[in-house]
Amino acid sequence: EKGTYPHFMLKEIDEQPLVMRRIIQSYQDDFDRLKLAPEIRGAMKRCDRIYIIAAGTSYHAGLAGKQFLENMAGIPTEVHVASEFSYNMPLLSEHPLFVFISQSGETADSRSVLVKIKEMGHPALTITNVAGSTLSRESDFTLHLHAGPEIAVASTKAYTAQIAVLAILAVDTARAKEIRLDFDPLQELAIAANAIEVLTDQKETIEELVRSNLATTQNAFFIGRGSDYFVCLEGALKLKEISYIQAEGFAGGELKHGTIALIEEGTPVIALATQENVNYAIRSNVQEVVARGANDMIFSMRGLEQDSDAFVVPQVHELIAPLVSVVPMQLLAYYAALHRGCDVDKPRNLAKSVTVE
Ligand code: F6R
Repeated sequence: EKGTYPHFMLKEIDEQPLVMRRIIQSYQDDFDRLKLAPEIRGAMKRCDRIYIIAAGTSYHAGLAGKQFLENMAGIPTEVHVASEFSYNMPLLSEHPLFVFISQSGETADSRSVLVKIKEMGHPALTITNVAGSTLSRESDFTLHLHAGPEIAVASTKAYTAQIAVLAILAVDTARAKEIRLDFDPLQELAIAANAIEVLTDQKETIEELVRSNLATTQNAFFIGRGSDYFVCLEGALKLKEISYIQAEGFAGGELKHGTIALIEEGTPVIALATQENVNYAIRSNVQEVVARGANDMIFSMRGLEQDSDAFVVPQVHELIAPLVSVVPMQLLAYYAALHRGCDVDKPRNLAKSVTVE
């Protein structure tokens, strides 16, 4: 039920800190040990490469999660769009592990890859919000998102839950492989939960940004580098699907190779700056578009901010940043849809789970 909320999407955005804490509790025992099935741990230790298969928002969560699997667990990881995998199939490693990410567990594009790789004899792990879903039943192993039912068509809390569960999977593997980490990812997830809570209290600031920058625009660009780029893809998808503004997420450095031709006087360009190593570079990309008339909005992280930034998110560990920086992107999309009179929870042409290929 929506309770006092006008839309499920807003309720689900607000639930994200709670979901994050529920995930930490569900996967951790009283002695700070992680409660993953030994078979999953075994499969993670055995594999020489992970192939993440997903669609839409879940694909974007996979891109962010890849960072954990490579940086914490030391496993090379590829992320593939489910509907393309069979036609653009990479040369597989000797011991692949397939990880399917799907909120619904019913996405037909992902299922057809699952059927194919099971025929080939490869192991599969599904990360899903729906226990007993098709992907969960047909995989060897399942990890649950514990996000609670997601009703709004635009996925929000499932995305942050997917990233958090991928982080937990990566930490568990790092511990099993005795890889020493120079930070405590579980503690960082708890810090992220608090940071998201702070952000959900800043709705008016985001609504104001929407009112002055996105109320009537036809298009918008999201630019970022490093993991900010992945969040830009998600920010653009959210904005497109519920507000019908034509939006694209771009790698900051790639814009000048063609797409910058689309920047006109007043074109909104939303830039993410949460990563120290690209902070300078993304800001010069913003200068490039501002010089061509763009209306810039920089979303930075505390510690990297400058006075002219439109919004500053609380400081969290850089690897965890997508969990936090996506929240203002979700709110931008929400208020853009609201102010443009769109049906927030049920956008046109879309269904909650896509069961056709
Ligand atoms: C976007 C959205 C879709 C889904 C995609 C995959 O807000 O909801 O892009 O993420 O259809 O769905 P699942 O995760 O159920 O496989």
